[in-house]
Order: sequence, then C-alpha cells, then structure tokens
Amino acid sequence: MTNQYQTEHYQELDALHHLHPFTSHKSLRSGGARVIVRGDGAYIWDSEGNCILDGMAGLWTANLGHSRKELAEAAYEQMLELPFYNTFFRTTHPPVVALSRKLAEIAPDNLNQVFYGSSGSESNDTAIRLIRHYWTLKGEPKRRIIISRKNAYHGSTIAAASMSGMAHMHAHSYPLYEGFRHIMDPYWYGEAKDGETPEEFGLRAARALEDEILAVGPENVAAFAGEPVQGAGGVKIPPVTYWPEIQRIVDKYGILLLADEVITGFGRLGTWFASEYYGIRPKLITFAKAVTSGYLPLSGVMVDDDIVDVLMAHDEDFNHGYTFSGHPVACAVALKNLEIIERERLVPRVREFGAPALAKMLAKFKDHPLVGEVRSVGLLGAIELVADKGSRRRFADPGRVGLICRDHFFREGFIMRAVFDTMVMSPPLIWEQKQFDEAEAVIRRALGLTLSDVAGEVAA
Ligand SMILES: Cc1ncc(COP(=O)(O)O)c(C=O)c1O
Repeated sequence: MTNQYQTEHYQELDALHHLHPFTSHKSLRSGGARVIVRGDGAYIWDSEGNCILDGMAGLWTANLGHSRKELAEAAYEQMLELPFYNTFFRTTHPPVVALSRKLAEIAPDNLNQVFYGSSGSESNDTAIRLIRHYWTLKGEPKRRIIISRKNAYHGSTIAAASMSGMAHMHAHSYPLYEGFRHIMDPYWYGEAKDGETPEEFGLRAARALEDEILAVGPENVAAFAGEPVQGAGGVKIPPVTYWPEIQRIVDKYGILLLADEVITGFGRLGTWFASEYYGIRPKLITFAKAVTSGYLPLSGVMVDDDIVDVLMAHDEDFNHGYTFSGHPVACAVALKNLEIIERERLVPRVREFGAPALAKMLAKFKDHPLVGEVRSVGLLGAIELVADKGSRRRFADPGRVGLICRDHFFREGFIMRAVFDTMVMSPPLIWEQKQFDEAEAVIRRALGLTLSDVAGEVAA
C-alpha cells in the first residue's frame, strides 16, 4: 500500500505534467488530484488506503467491476499470440472476426456489421461520416443535417462535440462543425410546464423533432441522434411516450436513427442494448465503454443492413479508419467480457435484481428536504438536489451544491457524480444487496451533511 509521502509525490508530479479532461487545472492544483491505486470488484482504493464504493463503474464503464482475472488473462494470451495488426488493406484477424460475429448476435436483427474505433467520440465521428456518405451514395447529397438534443453528450472530438448539445463545450473558441441542430431534451423534471404529465411532456419533446425537420426542410435532414437515456446530461430518463413518437417521426420522414449507446449498451438497462428496452429500431448504434468493461479502449458503430448494401453497391473506398480499428487485444478482452456477462446472466439479473434494488434504495430519499426527485432505469439513477421541493426551485449558482454533496460522498467512501446539482450513479452490474445497503447508508449521511452546509438556503 502506498503512503502519504507517495500521495503528495504523485500529486506534485501530476500537477506538473498531466492535463486532465473536463477539469479546471487551477482548482485541481490547489486541491491536488485524488490518486486511485487499485480496484477490486465493486470497490477502488486510493493512495491513502481508503476503500471506496464505486457507484459510477469507473465512468459508466466497468460493468463487470474491477480487476477480473479472466479479462487480464485474455489480454495476456492475445498479446503473446498477436499483439497488434491493423485491419486496413484487406486484412483481418481472428479476434476481430469473432467479436464482430458476437456483436451481430446480441444487437438488434438489422445490425450485422461493425466499424471499430477506440473511444465513444471516435465511434460517433465514424457514424457521422457514414451517415453523410450513405446519403451521398444514395444520390441525396443535400441530406447533411443531423438533429440531436440539447445537453446530449456524444464525445469530445470536434464533430462529436458539435453533435453534442453541451453549451459549455460549444462555448469554447473553436468553430462548431457544420450541419447540426439541437432540439429540447426529454427532461420532464426540469422542463415540464405546470400540470403537464410525463406522457404529455414526452410527446411535446419528441414533436420538437418534427418541428425542426419541417423548419430546415425534410430533404436536408440526414439523421436524428440521441442517447436512449441521456447520461452525462444528468441521467435524463425519457417518458414512455418519447421514443415511440421519435420512431414515428423518423419513419415518416425517412431519416436515419442513430442511437448512441456508449453508456446504455451491454446490459445497463437489463437488455443488451437500450434500443431493445425502448422498442426503437436504430439504423446505427454507437458503443464503447462497457464493451470491454473498460479494461481496454474499444468502440464501434453497428450498421444497418440497408446502409451496408448501399456501401457495397459502390466499388469505392470509405476513406475513414483508425490505426487501432479492431485492435486484436481489445477485441479479445471484449469477447471474454461478453462471455462472462452471458455466463453470469448479468443482463437478466439487472432486470430481476439490480434495477428494482436501485429504485427501492433511491425511493428512500424522495422525502428528504434537499431532494426534488429520484429516478432510475435499469442501473442508471439520479437524485435532484433543489432549494425548494414544492416549487422545484434550484439553488443559486448551479453546480455548487452538487459539488459539496459529491465531496461528502467521496469523504464517506462512495463515488457518485455531480451533473450541476443532479447526483448521478451507474454502478457495475455485479452489485449485491450489500453494496446497495452500503450506498444507502452513505447517501443518507452525505445528504445530511450537505443539508447542514446549505441549510440557510433550503425552503422550510
Ligand atoms: C453517450 C456517450 N457518447 C459518447 C461518449 C464519448 O465517449 P469517449 O469518452 O470514449 O470518447 C460518452 C462518454 O461519456 C457518452 O456518455
């Protein structure tokens, strides 16, 4: 186990040499990064020896939990056999073939081909290029506009960030990539009008897509892109009316549906893909993260048969690809990961045990004075922190109270992420009742401490 001296040593070197994602380096340097040194199952350990319950599965990623020996062995064996070879220039290798076959088996029936990358951002960039290439080959090159949603997160490369609907990302001083439009997100708690039911709101939010299609001209629209459940935007769970109405609209105008399943893929909602859960029929699914439970970087786009037929009807290159597209070691680890998920019946287990256990645990906080709403679907959950439960009034300076609460969680030995003042969680699929009980106890203590910190601002 590392000691205090090493913590400071790591923090000092980290501050000197490491630029972190989505981080204010000024405040990071004054506080020092936390140093995580080990993971095992549902827990991680920091350099001070503290054991922490990982309520975020790394970053919506480690569906199998941490440090599974079988995944390490799969990587080791593949590294000895063929550590790397590319998939350009008419080459392939057994792990990428086997994984592609497996993904075609578990994905919706119309999705039988995979294009690989190493991150969710890359997979969305690939999807954007594929969508536009497809329409050009079909003889409709004007169809370039991709409609997505405010607060969507599709990645940090320029195209994926442009498709994302995060105002704070768009505010950076680079020009957005052309051809994206953003409609409202299906966030009933935050956006509904007085008296509007979730079902009514879901229809209104979906019909914003039809309004946008008509505003820009249906002949110019290539696709609609959405996360089945917005994750980084704050675990925004769409009302039941939302996705069926979206499907009706994309069918009516003949535009492609891209489901970004980077968070929701591989069992998180109790189905292999959330598209199955919501009954939608995407023409493309992007995935990443949990395909390897995060043990190695791997991502991809699953592509509809009709799109592939159009690509195959033209004898020309699709000029796009990454050195690590279909990396053999990452593919071998993904295959083993999917094999274990199947062997341990983790996908049905989410439906039968995990989802109800999470919903039951969160429901215990719905009457807490700080909590405006709790919600969950599968193993995605959220707690809204508000200044006034009755009127849903938020705290001044959005994000301040969320960070106070997040820091209490962390000091109490639990990781939950703050999206402004919405606390979100995405535990590994392997949690037992013991972990749900531990989470409940920590959340109770941390909400109590947060309430004491901001008591003067909370409506009586
Ligand atoms: C829905 C969604 N899409 C895409 C991405 C980008 O993935 P990556 O960070 O691997 O580029 C993320 C990352 O969290 C995500 O949540």
